[in-house]
Amino acid sequence: MTLSTELLENTIKPHGGELVNRQAVGAQREQLIEVAPQLASLTLNPWSLSDLELIAIGGFSPLTGFMGEKDYHSVVENLHLSNGLVWSIPITLPVTEAQADELSIGDKVALYGEDKQLYGVLTLEEKFTYDKENEAQKVYGTTETAHPGVQKVYEKGNVYLAGPIELVNRPKHDEFDEFHLDPSETRQLFYDLGWKTVVGFQTRNPVHRAHEYIQKIALESVDGLLLNPLVGETKSDDIPADVRMESYQVILKHYYPEERNRLVIYPAAMRYAGPREAILHATVRKNYGCTHFIVGRDHAGVGDYYGTYEAQELISEYETELGIQIFKFEHAFYCTKCDNMATAKTCPHDKTAHVHLSGTKVREKLRNGEQLPKEFSRPEVAEVLIKGLQVTEA
Ligand code: ADX
Repeated sequence: MTLSTELLENTIKPHGGELVNRQAVGAQREQLIEVAPQLASLTLNPWSLSDLELIAIGGFSPLTGFMGEKDYHSVVENLHLSNGLVWSIPITLPVTEAQADELSIGDKVALYGEDKQLYGVLTLEEKFTYDKENEAQKVYGTTETAHPGVQKVYEKGNVYLAGPIELVNRPKHDEFDEFHLDPSETRQLFYDLGWKTVVGFQTRNPVHRAHEYIQKIALESVDGLLLNPLVGETKSDDIPADVRMESYQVILKHYYPEERNRLVIYPAAMRYAGPREAILHATVRKNYGCTHFIVGRDHAGVGDYYGTYEAQELISEYETELGIQIFKFEHAFYCTKCDNMATAKTCPHDKTAHVHLSGTKVREKLRNGEQLPKEFSRPEVAEVLIKGLQVTEA
C-alpha cells in the first residue's frame, strides 16, 4: 500500500524515517517464485517466520533484513543499531553450523515455513557466531534457562545468517483476517479516522480490569486506542490467541466507544524480555502509526525476573530518542472501598481492600475452573475465556 505525501507529512514518522516494505510484488515476485526451487533453502520456525513478516511489512523499520554482526553487537551491548538509532532486541536468523556450512556469502536462500510454503528469499551477506550467554544476560538480564526467552536462546543454532530479505508469500493469519493490518494500513486507517494521536496497547493476555483502566485513562488524552495483541508464538501456558481475540472483540463491543478503538493483531513472537522488549514494543507501535504507547507494571515480564517498574525505568532513558510518548502506569488494582479501579497514587485505603489482578492470576483461576470475579474481568470476557479454554483443553 502506498501512502500519500499528505498522510506521511501529517502522521508520526516511522522509526528511522521510512516505512520499510520488503514485499515482492508483480514480476519481481514471479521471478523469485520461479527461481526458488533452484536456490539453497532453509525452513524457518514460527518465531523466525514472524520476524521475516515483521521486517517485510515495516513493523521492524528501519530493518530491511536479519541483522549483521555489527548491528547485532551494537544492539546487544548498547541498545542502538550501528547507525545510532535506538533498538533494543537483536532480530536475527539462527541456523546450525551444518546449515551455515552449506551456504556461501552472496547466495540467495529460499525461506520456507514448516508448512513447506515458500515465504521469502534472503540475500546472504554475513554468517557469524555469537555468545549465547552474553546475549541471554544482556537482553534478558539472566542466563537461567527457566526463563522462556533464554531457553530459546540456548535452543537456537550457533550461527546467525544476515542480509536483506524479500517476502514472497504472506504468512497466513486466516482466523484473524479482519484484524490483520500492516503498518501502512493502520497509518491510513488512523488518518481516515481523523485520529491525530493514537495510543498503542500491547498484550499477550485477555483484557482484564487493570488493562481496561489504564487504556481508558490513556484514551482520555488521545484520539484513539489501538488494541494490538501479540498473536505470534507465546509460552504454552499463555491463553491461545484465538480465544483472546474473541475476548477482545467482546470487551470492545460492550465497554469501549466504537469510533475510538481499533483491534489489530501484532503477529510477533513474545520474547518475555521485560524492559528491553518494552522498547521493542514501543518502536514497532510507532511504525504502526501510534503516537503513544502504554507501559504498565512488569511489561513483557515473566516470573520474577524483572522489577515491577524496570521496563518503565529503562524506556524512560530512551523515550526522547524513540520519538513515541510513553504512558507509564503504576500497578493498578480494584479497591473494594473505593469500589473502583485505582493505584497507590489514587487510593487512600490499606491493602486489605485491594484486589490484585494479573494475567497470571486470571489464567490460574480459569484453569482451576474458578469464576472470575467482576473485579478481575468483565462477565462477557469471563464467559468467552471459560468457553474458549474448555474447547482448547478438551
Ligand atoms: S505483556 O505483553 O506486557 O506481557 P500483559 O498483557 O501482561 O502483556 O500486559 C499488557 C500491558 O498492561 C503492559 O504494559 C503491562 O505492564 C500492563 N499491565 C498489566 N497488568 C497491569 C496492572 N495490574 N497494573 C498496571 N499495568 C498493568
